Amino acid sequence: MTIRAVVKGIGHYLPDRIVSNADLEALVDTTDEWIRTRSGIERRHFAAEGQMTSDLATRAALAALADAGLEPDDIDAIIVATSTPDLTFPSAATMVQGKLGMTRGFAFDVQAVCAGFVFAMANAQALIVSEQATRVLVIGAETFSRLMDWKDRSTCVLFGDGAGAVVLEAGTGDGSNADRGILAIDLHSDGRFKDLLYVDGGVSTGATGKLRMHGKEVFRHAVEKLAQTAHTSLGKLGLTGDDVDWIVPHQANLRIIAATAHKMHVPMDRVVVTVQDHGNTSAASIPLALSVGRDRGQVKSGDLIVTEAIGGGLTWGSVVIRL
Ligand code: UT7
Repeated sequence: MTIRAVVKGIGHYLPDRIVSNADLEALVDTTDEWIRTRSGIERRHFAAEGQMTSDLATRAALAALADAGLEPDDIDAIIVATSTPDLTFPSAATMVQGKLGMTRGFAFDVQAVCAGFVFAMANAQALIVSEQATRVLVIGAETFSRLMDWKDRSTCVLFGDGAGAVVLEAGTGDGSNADRGILAIDLHSDGRFKDLLYVDGGVSTGATGKLRMHGKEVFRHAVEKLAQTAHTSLGKLGLTGDDVDWIVPHQANLRIIAATAHKMHVPMDRVVVTVQDHGNTSAASIPLALSVGRDRGQVKSGDLIVTEAIGGGLTWGSVVIRL
């Protein structure tokens, strides 16, 4: 008998305000055509004034709990993957815990930037298989609009706000690839690349700072490392891209998504793509894509999916899940 972390519920939340590429043309020297052709992005959502990451996270959490048929106090642990917590501390996760009215369990944040959800799933799986928790709420939530330098056209057109969540619950399987739940994980980071994608603020500067990115270099690393990590996690199971029902990738750039799928020999009709509607929502992008993909009737129970992401650090990794 093998303990598995099984997906019991999925949900998401997007703030009401939609900002189109045309809206951004009025703000910086850019064009809808450039943004579409270089990134695939057509629009993104921005949080309202006063609407914080923990607010988005709580809405996504409630949607995932409702989907699972569970109440907040049924949950043992909350993990929020975010690089945009409301405050330096306490964690966004404890804020979500408070907003959900939970008085039991424990909550903490995971910070691995755009790869955060993959790292958070790995943490949740470890809590479940070590029997420290039976049900874990894993949330990716971000308000990257607040990290944008509105004078830097090379970054400010790329990011958006949102949140997605899954409820993982302990289940049992026979240890085979037919089991439901998280089947394999592959995680990496390499701090030598810290200057490729970072925020130029924090406690060392006394200000939050703005996002800085060497897009071309990050692009190059992404195309190489994402296919590699997916190959590694699938390889642990003796599987390849041919066995995958859906890739649910981090949504940063349609060209990266397509290049990774191509390297994995997976056609684009087996890839969930939401980047056109959400932009890059960092740690929120995978659970958002999973939830939207489910709502569209793409991913469904029993499907074998692989998620992969890369972000500042650099951090990258992948998770193979049977839904
Ligand atoms: O989620 C974390 C991981 N992040 C990513 O995966 C992002 C990775 N990088 C990318 O997605 C792409 O590199 C970008 C979308 C950021 C940029 O695409 P690119 O094809 O690498 O373009 P580039 O940076 O080489 O820029 C090409 C040109 C430049 O002009 P010159 O120097 O060739 O004359 C830029 O100044 O495009 C110009 N440019 C713009 N033009 C119109 C840069 N930003 C804009 C803009 N509008 N918003």
